[in-house]
Amino acid sequence: MEPKTFFCFIFLIVTAGFIISFTSTNFPHAPSSTTGLLDCTDSSSSPLCASRNFFFNKQKPPFSKQDPKPKLKNHDHLSDTANHPLDPLTVMEFNKVRSLLSSHALFSSGAPHAFHSIVLEEPEKNLVRAWEKGNPLPPRKASVIARVGPDTHVLTVDLSSSRVDIVDSPVRASGYPMMTLEEMNDVTFAPFTNADVNRTIVARGVNLTDVCCFPLSSGWYGRKEENKRVIKSQCYSNQGTANFYMRPIEGLTILIDLDTKQVIEIVDTGPNIPIPGSTNTEYRFKNLGTNDKTRGLNPISIEQPRGPSFVIEDNHVVKWANWEFHLKPDPRAGVVLSQVRVHDPDTQVTREVMYQGFVSELFVPYMDPSDAWYFKTYMDAGEYGFGLQAMPLVPLNDCPRNAAYMDGVFTAADGTPFVRENMVCIFERYAGDIGWRHSESPISGLPIKEVRPKVTLVVRMVASVGNYDYIIDYEFQTDGLIKAKVGLSGILMVKGTSYQNKNQVNKDKEGNEEELHGTLLAENIIGVIHDHYVTFYLDLDVDGPDNSFVKVNLKRQETEPGESPRKSYMKAVKNIVKTEKDAQIKLSLYDPSEFHVVNSVKTTRVGNPTGYKIVPRATAASLLDHDDPPQKRGAFTNNQIWVTPYNKSEKWAAGLFTYQSHGDDTLAVWSDRDRDIENKDIVVWYTLGFHHVPCQEDFPIMPTVSSSFDLKPANFFERNPILRAAPNFEHDLPVCEAKYVSA
Ligand SMILES: *[C@@H]1O[C@H](CO)[C@@H](O)[C@H](O)[C@H]1NC(C)=O
Ligand SMILES: *[C@@H]1O[C@H](CO)[C@@H](O)[C@H](O)[C@H]1NC(C)=O
Ligand SMILES: *[C@@H]1O[C@H](CO)[C@@H](O)[C@H](O)[C@H]1NC(C)=O
Repeated sequence: MEPKTFFCFIFLIVTAGFIISFTSTNFPHAPSSTTGLLDCTDSSSSPLCASRNFFFNKQKPPFSKQDPKPKLKNHDHLSDTANHPLDPLTVMEFNKVRSLLSSHALFSSGAPHAFHSIVLEEPEKNLVRAWEKGNPLPPRKASVIARVGPDTHVLTVDLSSSRVDIVDSPVRASGYPMMTLEEMNDVTFAPFTNADVNRTIVARGVNLTDVCCFPLSSGWYGRKEENKRVIKSQCYSNQGTANFYMRPIEGLTILIDLDTKQVIEIVDTGPNIPIPGSTNTEYRFKNLGTNDKTRGLNPISIEQPRGPSFVIEDNHVVKWANWEFHLKPDPRAGVVLSQVRVHDPDTQVTREVMYQGFVSELFVPYMDPSDAWYFKTYMDAGEYGFGLQAMPLVPLNDCPRNAAYMDGVFTAADGTPFVRENMVCIFERYAGDIGWRHSESPISGLPIKEVRPKVTLVVRMVASVGNYDYIIDYEFQTDGLIKAKVGLSGILMVKGTSYQNKNQVNKDKEGNEEELHGTLLAENIIGVIHDHYVTFYLDLDVDGPDNSFVKVNLKRQETEPGESPRKSYMKAVKNIVKTEKDAQIKLSLYDPSEFHVVNSVKTTRVGNPTGYKIVPRATAASLLDHDDPPQKRGAFTNNQIWVTPYNKSEKWAAGLFTYQSHGDDTLAVWSDRDRDIENKDIVVWYTLGFHHVPCQEDFPIMPTVSSSFDLKPANFFERNPILRAAPNFEHDLPVCEAKYVSA
């Protein structure tokens, strides 16, 4: 390839991460300073006065003399050690795993092999729960998924005994492991090894130096995907634009053998479809010009003159306000929250809420059955690795100035560790919202005005799975609520068309327009309708693992004749759910319910079982036929809520081996066993969905769309847990003066 086209090979950038860059990283250890308030008017280097925080993200230049000395730990991943049973494998551990594997019979024979996943084999849950800081760690183990030739193997490596055990070999599951980054990278180049691909591209009028191709997981439809790992590739012209996604060589689909990288088949159904132009596709700030007269915004930022209120202990344990939890980056899930606990202001006890929570799978089916589109039904975690696709966050824009960052340490296909810098950020948010309030009316004679500002803690990661960007936030509130939020941005996957205007679209005799499967967004570009589903694994342990799932059905009750001037009222009917099938829940506005996870024995002073509830918000359900191959594989989205008994090997909603899976190992299959879930260690699965009918505003890049759900205490505390929260006073806050005041 010509160097000119390199920028479009996004996976190249990913590969660059393999150059192991053990740069130092900074984590905040705050609030630790006694410096007090800062001189907010010293703003020599900044247009706004800067009350400098006690830590900086590492992209910033070194501290100047005037900066208060932040308490920093220079974070050298080379010497990382594990401090907690759930800490991810360290660089040293990865290196040991690699060396132990290299002498194992499976890998020492010289047969080509690749490690598709090397992660911590988490110790048994009871061991983790029993562990306390200062205790020795349970034995450190790695879980390894490898391919040797055509076979997949699962192994564990015990780092203390240096034993390598085979768990499953060869794997008989219908699917294959997550792709490696190297495979995705190689597949971007694979089409150009084939002269017919070159000829087809040239025949479409695209210069071979202007083309980039993109690896698209094939799904499973039974014919072409049988008995070999395959991937599809589609190509774009990047001539005149960085936004090559808007210039598809429509209809050209190249089937590639993922093991050999050989082109198996070339289909071009679009020779008559022009390549859309590059006009208006630019989205980079530096190239957009400034002839827009919209009133601009002045800079805005949060200042924390006394530094952040959270600490990150031993690199992974976050403590903030009443919360503490373990946080780790994961190549498949993105981030994993573990041992989430909240401090009870009444009893001074730190209580368990959730053992583990993470994104288990995503499902993104496109709604166009034609040859170049039907297979686009992605599972971004199990196929691409949601964490592997998380790019470094951009300070000041992805996360505010007061954010701390955490790196991911993952492995390349040869087992070598690499660092994904700034993959997760953690920051406190004050969005100007209110925690609670009351003002007394003058008629009461009580001059009461009590208001508490709402400050929250956000853990954020962003995965850029090809064109799309998924922003995942876990937001902790001091009132005990945890909000999981998904934001969608990035660039649409669009379809080329010969239409330039709606008035050209064919109509039948009745005047019905031809089905476009989407919206004409610009000349020759259709934004294709699709869905996004994000399935969360939520192992709630409310005051311990023995919990029950309770449906609180809201029902209309008719009054007896003569009982009341009212004919009806609404009542809450509680039902403890006994087995899995009764916990397969489809949301409905006209059958409203609350979904509680309650402790089986612990009650509040007045006798309510302690609990948390899952509070759905705007969401969507798949309309696909349950027998449609993608929906079979994505059957974990058939319900919005499922509850299963805890099982260490049931973590991935589409099955451990998702790529080209047939849907025989999904959450839906497990749940249909209808196991007991009453008074058990249970896991709740919640699916957040979006239907996306693109509109012109999504071109050439989409403004973020988001939705969320909450985990909210329900009779968990004896009373409002933030009763004693302090209000803001003028003297607590930095007084910053703008250096420049614009007219
Ligand atoms: C296809 O085109 C690319 C780019 O010009 C070139 O590097 C490659 O060698 C060509 N492949 C074949 C098989 O001719
Ligand atoms: C194709 O690219 C080459 C190299 O940049 C250039 O010399 C040639 O003019 C281009 N051809 C077309 C048809 O754009
Ligand atoms: C745990 O999960 C695995 C994988 O789904 C399954 O084979 C096993 O039977 C499950 N165990 C129980 C007790 O349900």
